[in-house]
Amino acid sequence: MLNDTGYLHLKKYFNPERISFEADKTIKKSQKIKWNFIKVYHNIFIYNFINIFSINFPFNNKLNPNLYNEFSKINFDDLIFKNTNWKNYKISQIELQHNEKYNYQSSWHRDAKIANLENIVVIIYLRDENGFRLVPRNLENEMIENSPFSKEKNYKHGYTNLPKKYYHQFDAKAGDIVMFDAGLLHQGSCKGIRTHLFARCVENFDESKIENNLKPDAILDNIEAESANYNWDFNQNYYVFNKRFKSVINLILYYFPILKIIKYLLDIKKKKIHFHYSIFQK
Ligand SMILES: [Fe+2]
Repeated sequence: MLNDTGYLHLKKYFNPERISFEADKTIKKSQKIKWNFIKVYHNIFIYNFINIFSINFPFNNKLNPNLYNEFSKINFDDLIFKNTNWKNYKISQIELQHNEKYNYQSSWHRDAKIANLENIVVIIYLRDENGFRLVPRNLENEMIENSPFSKEKNYKHGYTNLPKKYYHQFDAKAGDIVMFDAGLLHQGSCKGIRTHLFARCVENFDESKIENNLKPDAILDNIEAESANYNWDFNQNYYVFNKRFKSVINLILYYFPILKIIKYLLDIKKKKIHFHYSIFQK
């Protein structure tokens, strides 16, 4: 159960071979057909490629429905029913999260306002990945006493150096699953390549286990309407000249993060993380 620490790391939960292969195909296809539903957090230049952070609606027929077939072979029912009190569940959001070659580090944040097991995140590892950090439920009170900012859901103080004793860092292998209460404080972090499926689950009272728009046969018009409710603007064209140009600047700053170095030197107490999205990331 998720109750005590609020998370579980299940090792070797599924065979990653075929699903990882299909995920790689999906990533290539999304670049090739310029799939609209992508998130790019820090657009660093890659030749003939956009520095995608995540692909939304990844099971769609326009991308690679085989990924859905492979995903369906994972025993999700057991995963949810053995570890929650839910009678039924629904996957309300799914993303194929991927970084191609650059380091990645998000701010500290929560995916839900309260950690009351209403929202659960499941990470399905398709590659070996070390770096994801989470403050377990049993350490949260002590941490909040020392860092009151961390009670908030917002990202204002996100790039903060939290003392190591307050968080757990996951060293996951392809085939592992990590599930956690979406209301717990966490930080995405990885050096180099990473690939996993991110699924957000909620309790449900009918039989459908996955949102219709996430299924392979979902119609693009419906996806478009649905994605307008997402906290992201999908109507961006990352291939236009000025965005490509900016990505080259980002590439230079990735290796020579001048501003970050200045900020690091000025931050006497070293309370902040300064070198995210740079070669010097810790
Ligand atoms: Fe998150």
